[in-house]
Amino acid sequence: MSKTAKLILGNETYEIPVVTGSENENGLDISKLRSSSKHITIDRGFKNTGACYSAITFLDGENGVLRYRGYPIEQLAEEATFLEVAYLLIYGDLPSSDELAKFENDITQHTLVHEEMKGFLQAYPVNAHPMGVLAAMVCSLSTFYPESQDPNRSQEAFDLTIIRLIAKMPTMAAWAFKHSQRHPLIYPQNKFNYCENFLNMMYSMPTDEYFPDPIVTKALNKLLILHADHEQNCSASTVRIVGSSQANLYASISAGVCALWGPLHGGANQAVIEMLEAIKNDGGDTDKWINKAKDKEDPFRLMGFGHRVYKNFDPRATIIKKSCDEVLEALGVDDPVLDIAKKLEKVALEDPYFVERGLYPNVDFYSGIIYRALGIPPEMFTVMFSLGRLPGWIAQWKEMLDNGDPIGRPRQIYTGAVKRDYVSLSKR
Ligand code: ACO
Repeated sequence: MSKTAKLILGNETYEIPVVTGSENENGLDISKLRSSSKHITIDRGFKNTGACYSAITFLDGENGVLRYRGYPIEQLAEEATFLEVAYLLIYGDLPSSDELAKFENDITQHTLVHEEMKGFLQAYPVNAHPMGVLAAMVCSLSTFYPESQDPNRSQEAFDLTIIRLIAKMPTMAAWAFKHSQRHPLIYPQNKFNYCENFLNMMYSMPTDEYFPDPIVTKALNKLLILHADHEQNCSASTVRIVGSSQANLYASISAGVCALWGPLHGGANQAVIEMLEAIKNDGGDTDKWINKAKDKEDPFRLMGFGHRVYKNFDPRATIIKKSCDEVLEALGVDDPVLDIAKKLEKVALEDPYFVERGLYPNVDFYSGIIYRALGIPPEMFTVMFSLGRLPGWIAQWKEMLDNGDPIGRPRQIYTGAVKRDYVSLSKR
């Protein structure tokens, strides 16, 4: 028998259906509440609001559980390739070897971007943030593939758009970096796998080819998998909302890149390194900075700490912390900010302020240190995150359409002026 909740408003009682997910999470379906009771629900920042039914990613914030399509993140990060995970997220199941070979081959064949795109790049100032460049380039792809703008496109055309996006994202990301360095652009090469190709385009020069180091490639593969999806976060919700108006996939993903850029979301990885550098340059007194973070008069927050959903630990942070130690050791990198990060983490984890609020290191706390060890500059950290998150955004966008979700359009409680008459300028 289906369960219902009862809402008592004055003398009226309203029945609200209870919905239950496959992992026994419960929700109240209030979609018809306004028509029956004339009340909406209000939940600023959607702290307790489910926006959709989704079968992509399961997250249990209290117990630090994260699974893509049922598979634990720990297993995928250890054993899978990023493209395998991308296929899993987008199409729902792990690919067979034939399916994976075709997927990889299709992606390899579409890594070039139009030569005209280089003209856009040259127009940006040298200090342009690569996230701004990436967002613009992703949206620009829609102009080269006008058929992607047709909401009634065939499945085949849609699959090709997916392939093009995944294939061209590393090229555009590496070119955004090369532009910021005023270095010549390096073209993709079909002999490399996905991660190798990206690293080659980042670090090769026409005079000196870079041969991707397996330690670096493996670390990058793992980081991309860990970032590949995270259910209804700020950028995924943005992608869904933009796509719900039937805007094309390129435009929707570009909006996701923009949402990710903010320091409270994906931009935190850049902010973490800048914070750790600032602490180091200030003499390394972590207590001083912890006190700043606790001081409600001070706007400073401990970047890389806290999460809307994880209130115990972030399983991605656990994997990344281990990986960080391994990568730095394998590459022989001795980074003083790693010591500061570990000290900061230890102090914060013992401090009642952080413990009571369930504030733990999140995925971004250690990822920046690995990126730095791989030779990637801080402005590129969020671009790296975008590269990883792309399949998740595509999967969320596709699911939203497959489920026939309606256009995203929240309501509000109006708090502005009540009706008043216009007064002409001469009488004001
Ligand atoms: N440092 C100090 N205090 C913090 C921090 C922090 N990093 N994060 C939260 N708090 C405090 C808040 O001041 C608040 O305290 P109060 O109850 O005394 O008012 C309490 O903890 C709850 O914080 P909220 O802002 O209400 O939590 P919310 O879920 O809205 O925010 C967020 C989550 C944005 C991640 C927040 O923890 C934060 O700003 N962290 C730093 C930025 C960061 O690392 N972002 C990356 C998140 S992971 C990702 O997006 C990939």
